[in-house]
Amino acid sequence: MFMKREQWGSRPGFILAAVGSAIGLGNIWRFPYMAYENGGGAFFIPYLFAMISAGIPFMIMEFTLGHKLRGAAPRAFSKLGVKLEWLGWFQVFIAAVIAVYYVAIIGWAISYLGYSFTQSWGTDTNAFFFSEYLQLGENSPSKLGNLQMHIVLPMVLAWGITFAAIFTGIKGGIERASKIMMPLLFLMVIGLITRVVFLPGALDGINYLFEPDFSKITDPTVWSAAYGQIFFTLSVGFAIMIAYSSYLPEKSDINNNAFMTVLINCGFSITSGVLIFAVLGYMAQDQAKPITEVVTAGVGLAFVTIPAAINLLPAPYILGPLFFLALVVAGLSSHISIIEAVTSAVIDKLNWSRKKAASVVCGVGFAVSMAFATNGGLLLLDLVDYFINNVALLASCLVELIVIGWLLKISDIRDYANDLSDFSIGKWFEICIRFISPIMLAVILATNLWKTFNEGYGGYEMSDLLMLGWGLVAAMFVVAVIINVTSKSPSQQEG
Ligand code: PHE
Ligand code: NA
Repeated sequence: MFMKREQWGSRPGFILAAVGSAIGLGNIWRFPYMAYENGGGAFFIPYLFAMISAGIPFMIMEFTLGHKLRGAAPRAFSKLGVKLEWLGWFQVFIAAVIAVYYVAIIGWAISYLGYSFTQSWGTDTNAFFFSEYLQLGENSPSKLGNLQMHIVLPMVLAWGITFAAIFTGIKGGIERASKIMMPLLFLMVIGLITRVVFLPGALDGINYLFEPDFSKITDPTVWSAAYGQIFFTLSVGFAIMIAYSSYLPEKSDINNNAFMTVLINCGFSITSGVLIFAVLGYMAQDQAKPITEVVTAGVGLAFVTIPAAINLLPAPYILGPLFFLALVVAGLSSHISIIEAVTSAVIDKLNWSRKKAASVVCGVGFAVSMAFATNGGLLLLDLVDYFINNVALLASCLVELIVIGWLLKISDIRDYANDLSDFSIGKWFEICIRFISPIMLAVILATNLWKTFNEGYGGYEMSDLLMLGWGLVAAMFVVAVIINVTSKSPSQQEG
Protein backbone atom coordinates (compact mmCIF):
# COMPACT_ATOMS: atom_id res chain seq x y z
CA MET A 1 0.00 0.00 0.00
CA PHE A 2 1.41 3.37 -0.94
CA MET A 3 0.27 6.47 0.85
CA LYS A 4 1.41 9.89 -0.24
CA ARG A 5 3.36 11.63 2.48
CA GLU A 6 1.54 14.52 4.11
CA GLN A 7 2.68 18.05 3.26
CA TRP A 8 2.70 21.50 4.78
CA GLY A 9 0.07 23.72 3.22
CA SER A 10 2.19 26.81 2.75
CA ARG A 11 5.64 28.22 3.28
CA PRO A 12 4.67 30.52 6.18
CA GLY A 13 2.88 27.53 7.65
CA PHE A 14 6.09 25.52 7.72
CA ILE A 15 8.16 28.40 9.07
CA LEU A 16 5.65 29.10 11.83
CA ALA A 17 5.67 25.43 12.78
CA ALA A 18 9.49 25.30 12.82
CA VAL A 19 9.64 28.54 14.77
CA GLY A 20 6.94 27.18 17.07
CA SER A 21 9.16 24.24 17.81
CA ALA A 22 12.26 26.34 18.31
CA ILE A 23 10.67 28.98 20.49
CA GLY A 24 9.85 27.32 23.74
CA LEU A 25 10.37 27.36 27.45
CA GLY A 26 14.07 27.43 26.65
CA ASN A 27 13.79 30.93 25.21
CA ILE A 28 11.70 32.47 27.93
CA TRP A 29 13.19 31.21 31.12
CA ARG A 30 16.42 29.45 30.20
CA PHE A 31 18.07 31.95 27.90
CA PRO A 32 17.77 35.00 30.20
CA TYR A 33 19.38 33.37 33.20
CA MET A 34 22.03 31.65 31.09
CA ALA A 35 23.02 34.97 29.61
CA TYR A 36 23.01 36.49 33.04
CA GLU A 37 25.11 33.73 34.64
CA ASN A 38 27.58 33.54 31.81
CA GLY A 39 28.84 37.05 31.54
CA GLY A 40 25.80 39.13 30.64
CA GLY A 41 26.50 41.05 27.44
CA ALA A 42 29.70 39.09 26.89
CA PHE A 43 27.63 35.91 26.56
CA PHE A 44 26.39 37.21 23.23
CA ILE A 45 29.80 36.64 21.68
CA PRO A 46 29.89 32.86 22.29
CA TYR A 47 26.15 32.70 21.70
CA LEU A 48 26.30 34.38 18.29
CA PHE A 49 29.39 32.38 17.40
CA ALA A 50 27.54 29.16 18.24
CA MET A 51 24.50 30.36 16.32
CA ILE A 52 26.49 31.01 13.16
CA SER A 53 28.97 28.14 13.33
CA ALA A 54 26.59 25.48 14.58
CA GLY A 55 22.97 26.63 14.62
CA ILE A 56 22.55 27.81 11.05
CA PRO A 57 24.58 25.04 9.38
CA PHE A 58 22.84 22.40 11.48
CA MET A 59 19.43 23.77 10.56
CA ILE A 60 20.29 23.78 6.84
CA MET A 61 21.65 20.26 7.15
CA GLU A 62 18.55 18.89 8.92
CA PHE A 63 16.12 20.64 6.57
CA THR A 64 18.05 19.11 3.68
CA LEU A 65 18.05 15.63 5.22
CA GLY A 66 14.31 15.72 5.84
CA HIS A 67 13.49 17.18 2.44
CA LYS A 68 15.76 14.87 0.51
CA LEU A 69 15.16 11.63 2.36
CA ARG A 70 11.46 12.08 3.14
CA GLY A 71 11.46 10.38 6.47
CA ALA A 72 11.55 11.00 10.19
CA ALA A 73 15.04 10.69 11.70
CA PRO A 74 15.33 6.87 11.79
CA ARG A 75 14.25 6.41 8.19
CA ALA A 76 16.29 9.39 7.02
CA PHE A 77 19.47 8.05 8.59
CA SER A 78 18.81 4.50 7.45
CA LYS A 79 18.54 5.77 3.88
CA LEU A 80 21.98 7.30 4.27
CA GLY A 81 23.32 3.96 5.38
CA VAL A 82 21.75 0.84 6.83
CA LYS A 83 24.11 1.01 9.79
CA LEU A 84 22.95 4.52 10.71
CA GLU A 85 19.34 3.89 11.65
CA TRP A 86 20.27 3.66 15.33
CA LEU A 87 21.26 7.35 15.33
CA GLY A 88 17.73 8.26 14.29
CA TRP A 89 16.26 6.15 17.08
CA PHE A 90 18.68 7.55 19.62
CA GLN A 91 17.47 11.02 18.65
CA VAL A 92 13.85 9.91 18.81
CA PHE A 93 14.46 8.61 22.35
CA ILE A 94 15.99 11.95 23.33
CA ALA A 95 12.86 13.60 21.99
CA ALA A 96 10.62 11.16 23.86
CA VAL A 97 12.41 11.71 27.17
CA ILE A 98 12.34 15.49 26.84
CA ALA A 99 8.66 15.29 25.90
CA VAL A 100 7.65 13.57 29.12
CA TYR A 101 9.29 16.06 31.46
CA TYR A 102 8.78 19.20 29.37
CA VAL A 103 5.03 18.63 29.59
CA ALA A 104 5.29 18.82 33.38
CA ILE A 105 6.70 22.34 33.15
CA ILE A 106 3.87 23.26 30.77
CA GLY A 107 1.51 21.85 33.41
CA TRP A 108 3.03 24.09 36.09
CA ALA A 109 2.71 27.06 33.74
CA ILE A 110 -0.98 26.27 33.21
CA SER A 111 -1.51 26.16 36.98
CA TYR A 112 0.32 29.45 37.38
CA LEU A 113 -1.75 30.98 34.61
CA GLY A 114 -4.72 30.21 36.83
CA TYR A 115 -3.09 31.62 39.97
CA SER A 116 -1.94 34.76 38.17
CA PHE A 117 -5.42 36.27 37.88
CA THR A 118 -5.54 36.80 41.64
CA GLN A 119 -1.86 36.24 42.52
CA SER A 120 -3.00 33.43 44.76
CA TRP A 121 0.62 32.34 45.08
CA GLY A 122 0.85 34.85 47.95
CA THR A 123 3.92 36.81 48.98
CA ASP A 124 6.31 33.97 49.79
CA THR A 125 6.46 32.66 46.25
CA ASN A 126 9.39 30.42 47.05
CA ALA A 127 7.61 28.47 49.76
CA PHE A 128 4.49 28.44 47.62
CA PHE A 129 6.20 26.84 44.64
CA PHE A 130 8.32 24.23 46.35
CA SER A 131 6.22 23.33 49.38
CA GLU A 132 2.65 24.09 48.52
CA TYR A 133 2.56 23.58 44.77
CA LEU A 134 5.14 20.88 44.10
CA GLN A 135 4.79 19.41 47.61
CA LEU A 136 8.44 18.56 47.53
CA GLY A 137 9.28 16.80 50.77
CA GLU A 138 11.96 14.31 51.74
CA ASN A 139 12.05 13.00 48.20
CA SER A 140 14.69 12.07 45.68
CA PRO A 141 14.65 11.22 41.98
CA SER A 142 13.98 7.60 42.91
CA LYS A 143 11.73 8.25 45.92
CA LEU A 144 8.99 10.05 44.12
CA GLY A 145 6.17 9.99 46.67
CA ASN A 146 2.59 10.36 45.51
CA LEU A 147 0.82 11.64 42.45
CA GLN A 148 -0.31 15.23 42.87
CA MET A 149 -3.69 15.60 41.27
CA HIS A 150 -3.40 19.38 40.98
CA ILE A 151 -0.34 18.83 38.74
CA VAL A 152 -1.88 15.88 36.88
CA LEU A 153 -4.88 17.89 35.73
CA PRO A 154 -3.07 20.70 33.90
CA MET A 155 -0.80 18.07 32.36
CA VAL A 156 -3.87 16.27 31.05
CA LEU A 157 -4.92 19.53 29.43
CA ALA A 158 -1.49 20.00 27.83
CA TRP A 159 -1.47 16.43 26.51
CA GLY A 160 -4.97 16.92 25.19
CA ILE A 161 -3.94 19.90 23.06
CA THR A 162 -0.81 18.18 21.79
CA PHE A 163 -2.76 15.04 21.00
CA ALA A 164 -5.44 16.95 19.09
CA ALA A 165 -2.81 18.62 16.88
CA ILE A 166 -0.82 15.45 16.18
CA PHE A 167 -3.87 13.28 15.65
CA THR A 168 -5.30 15.74 13.09
CA GLY A 169 -2.11 15.82 11.05
CA ILE A 170 0.52 18.07 9.56
CA LYS A 171 -1.57 20.61 7.74
CA GLY A 172 -4.89 20.54 9.53
CA GLY A 173 -3.44 20.06 13.01
CA ILE A 174 0.13 21.21 13.51
CA GLU A 175 0.18 23.93 10.87
CA ARG A 176 -3.19 25.30 11.93
CA ALA A 177 -2.19 25.32 15.60
CA SER A 178 1.08 27.11 14.79
CA LYS A 179 -0.71 29.74 12.74
CA ILE A 180 -2.82 30.61 15.76
CA MET A 181 -0.24 30.14 18.49
CA MET A 182 2.76 31.96 17.07
CA PRO A 183 1.12 35.29 16.16
CA LEU A 184 -0.65 35.18 19.53
CA LEU A 185 2.68 34.62 21.27
CA PHE A 186 4.38 37.49 19.44
CA LEU A 187 1.51 39.84 20.25
CA MET A 188 1.57 38.90 23.91
CA VAL A 189 5.30 39.41 24.23
CA ILE A 190 5.18 42.73 22.39
CA GLY A 191 2.31 43.81 24.63
CA LEU A 192 4.21 42.85 27.76
CA ILE A 193 7.41 44.50 26.69
CA THR A 194 5.88 47.82 25.72
CA ARG A 195 4.33 48.12 29.17
CA VAL A 196 7.24 46.82 31.17
CA VAL A 197 10.11 48.88 29.74
CA PHE A 198 8.49 52.07 31.00
CA LEU A 199 8.52 50.91 34.61
CA PRO A 200 11.00 52.63 36.90
CA GLY A 201 14.23 50.66 37.12
CA ALA A 202 13.48 48.65 33.98
CA LEU A 203 16.35 50.18 32.03
CA ASP A 204 18.79 49.36 34.82
CA GLY A 205 17.71 45.75 34.56
CA ILE A 206 18.17 45.71 30.81
CA ASN A 207 21.58 47.35 31.11
CA TYR A 208 22.51 44.74 33.62
CA LEU A 209 21.73 41.96 31.17
CA PHE A 210 23.78 43.57 28.43
CA GLU A 211 26.66 44.76 30.58
CA PRO A 212 29.55 42.65 29.40
CA ASP A 213 31.82 40.78 31.78
CA PHE A 214 34.66 40.06 29.37
CA SER A 215 36.59 37.99 31.87
CA LYS A 216 34.02 35.26 31.19
CA ILE A 217 34.92 34.96 27.51
CA THR A 218 37.98 32.86 28.23
CA ASP A 219 35.99 30.56 30.50
CA PRO A 220 35.24 27.28 28.68
CA THR A 221 32.04 26.70 30.65
CA VAL A 222 30.59 29.82 29.04
CA TRP A 223 31.25 28.43 25.59
CA SER A 224 29.84 25.10 26.62
CA ALA A 225 26.68 26.82 27.88
CA ALA A 226 26.35 28.73 24.60
CA TYR A 227 26.68 25.64 22.42
CA GLY A 228 24.39 23.54 24.61
CA GLN A 229 21.78 26.27 24.53
CA ILE A 230 21.93 26.64 20.73
CA PHE A 231 21.13 22.98 20.01
CA PHE A 232 18.36 22.85 22.58
CA THR A 233 16.84 26.18 21.61
CA LEU A 234 16.81 25.38 17.89
CA SER A 235 15.44 21.86 18.38
CA VAL A 236 18.24 20.42 16.25
CA GLY A 237 19.97 17.11 16.88
CA PHE A 238 16.95 15.39 18.38
CA ALA A 239 14.84 14.32 15.44
CA ILE A 240 12.44 17.25 15.35
CA MET A 241 13.59 19.36 12.42
CA ILE A 242 14.27 16.28 10.27
CA ALA A 243 10.70 15.13 10.88
CA TYR A 244 9.21 18.55 10.17
CA SER A 245 11.18 19.07 6.97
CA SER A 246 10.25 15.60 5.72
CA TYR A 247 6.83 17.11 5.04
CA LEU A 248 8.15 20.00 2.95
CA PRO A 249 6.82 20.32 -0.59
CA GLU A 250 9.18 19.56 -3.48
CA LYS A 251 9.95 23.22 -4.11
CA SER A 252 11.10 24.70 -0.83
CA ASP A 253 13.74 27.33 -0.22
CA ILE A 254 15.83 25.50 2.34
CA ASN A 255 18.47 28.13 3.02
CA ASN A 256 15.98 30.89 3.45
CA ASN A 257 13.73 28.81 5.71
CA ALA A 258 16.67 27.82 7.86
CA PHE A 259 17.95 31.37 8.28
CA MET A 260 14.48 32.64 9.12
CA THR A 261 13.89 29.95 11.72
CA VAL A 262 17.23 30.52 13.44
CA LEU A 263 17.06 34.31 13.39
CA ILE A 264 13.46 34.50 14.60
CA ASN A 265 14.25 32.09 17.43
CA CYS A 266 17.37 33.92 18.56
CA GLY A 267 15.69 37.31 18.19
CA PHE A 268 12.88 36.02 20.35
CA SER A 269 15.36 34.86 23.01
CA ILE A 270 16.97 38.27 23.22
CA THR A 271 13.53 39.89 23.38
CA SER A 272 12.57 37.62 26.27
CA GLY A 273 15.82 38.49 27.98
CA VAL A 274 14.92 42.16 27.75
CA LEU A 275 11.43 41.47 29.06
CA ILE A 276 12.57 39.43 32.04
CA PHE A 277 15.37 41.78 33.00
CA ALA A 278 13.18 44.84 32.70
CA VAL A 279 10.87 43.23 35.25
CA LEU A 280 13.77 42.28 37.49
CA GLY A 281 15.16 45.81 37.29
CA TYR A 282 11.82 47.19 38.41
CA MET A 283 11.64 44.70 41.23
CA ALA A 284 15.17 45.50 42.39
CA GLN A 285 14.40 49.20 42.47
CA ASP A 286 11.10 48.68 44.25
CA GLN A 287 12.76 46.64 46.98
CA ALA A 288 15.90 48.79 47.02
CA LYS A 289 18.06 45.72 46.48
CA PRO A 290 20.83 45.11 43.98
CA ILE A 291 19.61 43.13 41.01
CA THR A 292 21.90 40.21 41.86
CA GLU A 293 19.77 39.62 44.94
CA VAL A 294 16.49 39.32 43.09
CA VAL A 295 17.58 36.95 40.29
CA THR A 296 17.20 33.21 40.61
CA ALA A 297 18.35 30.63 38.13
CA GLY A 298 16.62 27.53 36.85
CA VAL A 299 12.94 26.81 37.37
CA GLY A 300 12.94 29.36 40.17
CA LEU A 301 13.13 32.21 37.68
CA ALA A 302 9.75 31.55 36.09
CA PHE A 303 7.93 30.11 39.09
CA VAL A 304 9.39 32.00 42.06
CA THR A 305 10.96 35.28 40.97
CA ILE A 306 8.51 36.24 38.23
CA PRO A 307 5.45 35.66 40.44
CA ALA A 308 7.08 37.80 43.13
CA ALA A 309 7.71 40.49 40.53
CA ILE A 310 4.16 40.23 39.19
CA ASN A 311 2.90 40.95 42.72
CA LEU A 312 4.59 44.34 42.47
CA LEU A 313 3.48 45.25 38.95
CA PRO A 314 0.72 47.65 38.09
CA ALA A 315 -2.31 45.71 36.84
CA PRO A 316 -0.83 42.34 37.84
CA TYR A 317 -4.09 40.60 36.89
CA ILE A 318 -3.34 41.52 33.25
CA LEU A 319 0.44 41.27 33.01
CA GLY A 320 0.59 38.06 35.05
CA PRO A 321 -1.83 36.08 32.88
CA LEU A 322 -0.15 37.46 29.75
CA PHE A 323 3.22 36.19 30.91
CA PHE A 324 2.03 32.73 31.87
CA LEU A 325 -0.14 32.37 28.80
CA ALA A 326 2.93 33.21 26.71
CA LEU A 327 4.85 30.52 28.56
CA VAL A 328 2.09 27.97 27.98
CA VAL A 329 1.77 28.76 24.27
CA ALA A 330 5.54 28.69 23.71
CA GLY A 331 5.76 25.37 25.54
CA LEU A 332 2.82 23.73 23.80
CA SER A 333 4.03 24.49 20.28
CA SER A 334 7.37 22.90 21.16
CA HIS A 335 5.71 19.94 22.79
CA ILE A 336 3.66 19.34 19.66
CA SER A 337 6.84 19.24 17.58
CA ILE A 338 8.64 16.86 19.87
CA ILE A 339 5.71 14.44 19.94
CA GLU A 340 5.50 14.69 16.15
CA ALA A 341 9.16 13.66 15.95
CA VAL A 342 8.30 10.47 17.80
CA THR A 343 4.98 9.88 16.08
CA SER A 344 6.31 10.25 12.56
CA ALA A 345 9.13 7.83 13.36
CA VAL A 346 6.56 5.28 14.52
CA ILE A 347 4.43 5.84 11.41
CA ASP A 348 7.46 5.30 9.15
CA LYS A 349 8.63 2.21 10.98
CA LEU A 350 5.42 0.33 11.65
CA ASN A 351 3.30 1.61 8.78
CA TRP A 352 0.63 2.58 11.26
CA SER A 353 -1.97 5.19 10.48
CA ARG A 354 -1.30 8.62 11.96
CA LYS A 355 -4.31 8.27 14.22
CA LYS A 356 -3.13 4.99 15.68
CA ALA A 357 0.46 6.15 16.11
CA ALA A 358 -0.62 9.43 17.72
CA SER A 359 -2.89 7.60 20.15
CA VAL A 360 -0.25 5.11 21.22
CA VAL A 361 2.57 7.67 21.49
CA CYS A 362 0.46 10.13 23.49
CA GLY A 363 -1.01 7.38 25.63
CA VAL A 364 2.35 5.93 26.60
CA GLY A 365 3.85 9.41 26.92
CA PHE A 366 1.08 10.50 29.24
CA ALA A 367 1.55 7.48 31.49
CA VAL A 368 5.31 7.96 31.76
CA SER A 369 4.98 11.70 32.30
CA MET A 370 3.04 11.02 35.50
CA ALA A 371 6.38 10.32 37.19
CA PHE A 372 6.94 14.08 37.02
CA ALA A 373 3.62 14.89 38.68
CA THR A 374 4.78 13.43 42.00
CA ASN A 375 6.36 14.97 45.11
CA GLY A 376 9.83 14.23 43.76
CA GLY A 377 8.97 15.08 40.16
CA LEU A 378 11.10 18.22 40.10
CA LEU A 379 14.19 16.29 41.24
CA LEU A 380 13.71 13.58 38.66
CA LEU A 381 13.20 16.27 36.03
CA ASP A 382 16.34 18.10 37.06
CA LEU A 383 18.49 14.98 36.95
CA VAL A 384 17.14 13.63 33.66
CA ASP A 385 17.27 17.06 32.01
CA TYR A 386 20.93 17.41 32.97
CA PHE A 387 21.95 14.09 31.42
CA ILE A 388 19.84 14.56 28.33
CA ASN A 389 21.17 18.03 27.59
CA ASN A 390 24.75 17.69 28.68
CA VAL A 391 25.46 14.15 27.58
CA ALA A 392 22.91 12.59 25.22
CA LEU A 393 22.03 15.60 23.09
CA LEU A 394 25.62 16.76 22.62
CA ALA A 395 26.74 13.22 21.80
CA SER A 396 23.94 12.88 19.27
CA CYS A 397 24.86 16.16 17.60
CA LEU A 398 28.53 15.22 17.50
CA VAL A 399 27.85 11.84 15.90
CA GLU A 400 25.51 13.45 13.38
CA LEU A 401 28.20 15.94 12.40
CA ILE A 402 30.83 13.24 12.02
CA VAL A 403 28.53 11.02 9.98
CA ILE A 404 27.41 13.77 7.66
CA GLY A 405 30.66 15.71 7.53
CA TRP A 406 33.14 12.89 7.28
CA LEU A 407 31.51 9.62 6.30
CA LEU A 408 29.30 11.11 3.62
CA LYS A 409 29.87 13.82 1.08
CA ILE A 410 28.91 17.03 2.77
CA SER A 411 29.24 19.02 -0.44
CA ASP A 412 26.23 17.02 -1.73
CA ILE A 413 24.13 18.50 1.04
CA ARG A 414 25.28 22.01 0.25
CA ASP A 415 24.61 21.54 -3.47
CA TYR A 416 21.19 20.10 -2.77
CA ALA A 417 20.22 23.02 -0.53
CA ASN A 418 21.68 25.61 -2.89
CA ASP A 419 19.85 24.16 -5.89
CA LEU A 420 16.54 24.68 -4.14
CA SER A 421 17.30 28.05 -2.64
CA ASP A 422 17.27 31.65 -3.76
CA PHE A 423 20.59 32.48 -2.20
CA SER A 424 23.47 30.04 -1.98
CA ILE A 425 25.59 29.23 1.01
CA GLY A 426 29.32 29.10 0.63
CA LYS A 427 32.20 26.89 1.63
CA TRP A 428 31.92 28.16 5.22
CA PHE A 429 29.04 25.72 5.64
CA GLU A 430 31.35 22.75 5.13
CA ILE A 431 34.03 24.22 7.35
CA CYS A 432 31.50 24.64 10.16
CA ILE A 433 30.06 21.15 9.79
CA ARG A 434 33.36 19.35 9.37
CA PHE A 435 35.68 21.28 11.65
CA ILE A 436 34.48 24.06 13.88
CA SER A 437 31.31 22.53 15.31
CA PRO A 438 32.62 19.01 15.87
CA ILE A 439 35.79 20.28 17.53
CA MET A 440 33.84 22.55 19.85
CA LEU A 441 31.35 19.80 20.59
CA ALA A 442 33.99 17.16 21.22
CA VAL A 443 35.77 19.38 23.72
CA ILE A 444 32.55 20.32 25.48
CA LEU A 445 31.26 16.76 25.60
CA ALA A 446 34.56 15.42 26.91
CA THR A 447 34.62 18.10 29.61
CA ASN A 448 31.03 17.34 30.61
CA LEU A 449 31.67 13.61 30.77
CA TRP A 450 34.81 14.07 32.83
CA LYS A 451 33.14 16.48 35.22
CA THR A 452 30.00 14.43 35.67
CA PHE A 453 32.03 11.28 36.12
CA ASN A 454 34.12 12.81 38.85
CA GLU A 455 31.76 15.16 40.58
CA GLY A 456 28.34 13.71 39.85
CA TYR A 457 25.59 16.26 39.54
CA GLY A 458 23.45 18.28 41.89
CA GLY A 459 24.40 16.24 44.96
CA TYR A 460 22.21 13.32 43.92
CA GLU A 461 22.93 9.80 45.19
CA MET A 462 25.33 7.70 43.15
CA SER A 463 22.64 5.06 42.63
CA ASP A 464 20.27 7.67 41.18
CA LEU A 465 22.97 9.03 38.89
CA LEU A 466 23.80 5.53 37.70
CA MET A 467 20.26 4.45 37.08
CA LEU A 468 18.44 7.58 35.91
CA GLY A 469 21.40 9.39 34.36
CA TRP A 470 24.08 7.17 32.90
CA GLY A 471 21.81 4.14 32.80
CA LEU A 472 19.07 5.93 30.96
CA VAL A 473 21.42 7.27 28.28
CA ALA A 474 23.07 3.86 27.89
CA ALA A 475 19.69 2.14 27.62
CA MET A 476 18.58 4.57 24.92
CA PHE A 477 21.71 3.78 22.96
CA VAL A 478 21.43 0.00 23.38
CA VAL A 479 17.78 -0.13 22.38
CA ALA A 480 18.50 2.07 19.36
CA VAL A 481 21.23 -0.32 18.26
CA ILE A 482 19.00 -3.35 18.78
CA ILE A 483 16.30 -1.83 16.59
CA ASN A 484 18.92 -1.08 13.94
CA VAL A 485 20.39 -4.58 13.97
CA THR A 486 17.02 -6.31 13.74
CA SER A 487 15.77 -3.94 11.07
CA LYS A 488 14.81 -4.89 7.55
CA SER A 489 16.45 -2.96 4.75
CA PRO A 490 15.12 0.57 4.25
CA SER A 491 13.57 -0.25 0.91
CA GLN A 492 11.41 -2.92 2.52
CA GLN A 493 10.22 -0.43 5.10
CA GLU A 494 9.12 1.94 2.44
CA GLY A 495 5.46 1.02 2.94
N1 PHE B 1 13.48 24.61 21.33
C1 PHE B 1 12.76 24.30 22.52
C2 PHE B 1 12.95 25.34 23.58
O1 PHE B 1 13.71 26.24 23.43
C3 PHE B 1 13.27 23.02 23.03
C4 PHE B 1 12.28 22.01 22.85
C5 PHE B 1 11.75 21.74 21.63
C6 PHE B 1 11.86 21.36 23.92
C7 PHE B 1 10.79 20.83 21.52
C8 PHE B 1 10.88 20.45 23.81
C9 PHE B 1 10.34 20.23 22.62
O2 PHE B 1 12.29 25.27 24.58
NA1 NA C 1 14.10 27.88 21.44
